[in-house]
Amino acid sequence: MRTIVLTLLISLMSLTSIQVMAASGGIHLDPVEIDLSDKASLQRGAKTFVNYCLSCHSASFMRYNRMAKDIGLTEEQVKENLMFASEKIGDTMTIAMRAEDAKRWFGVTPPDLSVISRARGTDWLNTYLRTFYLDNTKAMGTNNLAFKDVGMPHVLWQQQGYLAADAETHHLTHATEGDMSNYEYNVMIADLVNFLAYVGEPSKIQRLALGKWVLLYLFLFFLVAYPMKKAFWKDIH
Ligand code: HEC
Repeated sequence: MRTIVLTLLISLMSLTSIQVMAASGGIHLDPVEIDLSDKASLQRGAKTFVNYCLSCHSASFMRYNRMAKDIGLTEEQVKENLMFASEKIGDTMTIAMRAEDAKRWFGVTPPDLSVISRARGTDWLNTYLRTFYLDNTKAMGTNNLAFKDVGMPHVLWQQQGYLAADAETHHLTHATEGDMSNYEYNVMIADLVNFLAYVGEPSKIQRLALGKWVLLYLFLFFLVAYPMKKAFWKDIH
């Protein structure tokens, strides 16, 4: 029995590692910590998202008013600081750019990012957003370590600066400096990925919060049930 369980476990483990390798195309991924209870991080991530991503990418499964509630902002705060692409607080996060235009400009339509954190994984996103590098054979002037020949320009070049890749090792070094230090840039990207993880599974916040109460309930129930069980069985043994 034990060997069967062990074999099963090992084959499961190797399956998941193969999947991770396949999703990353074999490159090393920079891990990122996701903390959906960190409201300040989610708010910073939302700000980066609406300022730098929402011009090309929609997140059409998400409504502004739902986001407001989930990440701890009032609807007024969202209207004033985070709504540039839309009028009504009940709207979904869509964009004004038409798909045909996008296709003409970038060669591809920027995909909706509602569930990108689940499709690609958060470590992949973290790596992708940190590894744009100069490549003058490309129309955008840049390429990406996680997404070869990507059609997206390095939109955060002002913050990160431009990186150059060593031809052999693909090791990245700064070709130009950005406004932010490496540390600041990495924090900004981690917050953005945290926000995208929330967007990919918004009800997880409530589930995590509910989980604590369920555990507390089970614990209290145990305190009642165990003495009862003891009392019932006392005379039978
Ligand atoms: C100027 C338009 C533009 C902006 C702004 C932009 N992107 Fe993109 N993005 C694109 C295009 C075009 C693609 C498709 C690239 C391809 O398929 O080659 C893309 C692809 C992506 C992908 C890969 C999707 C996949 O197929 O797996 C991710 C993730 C992504 N963008 C995230 C972001 C984030 C996060 C931001 C904000 C920091 C952002 N993008 C800002 C144009 C943009």
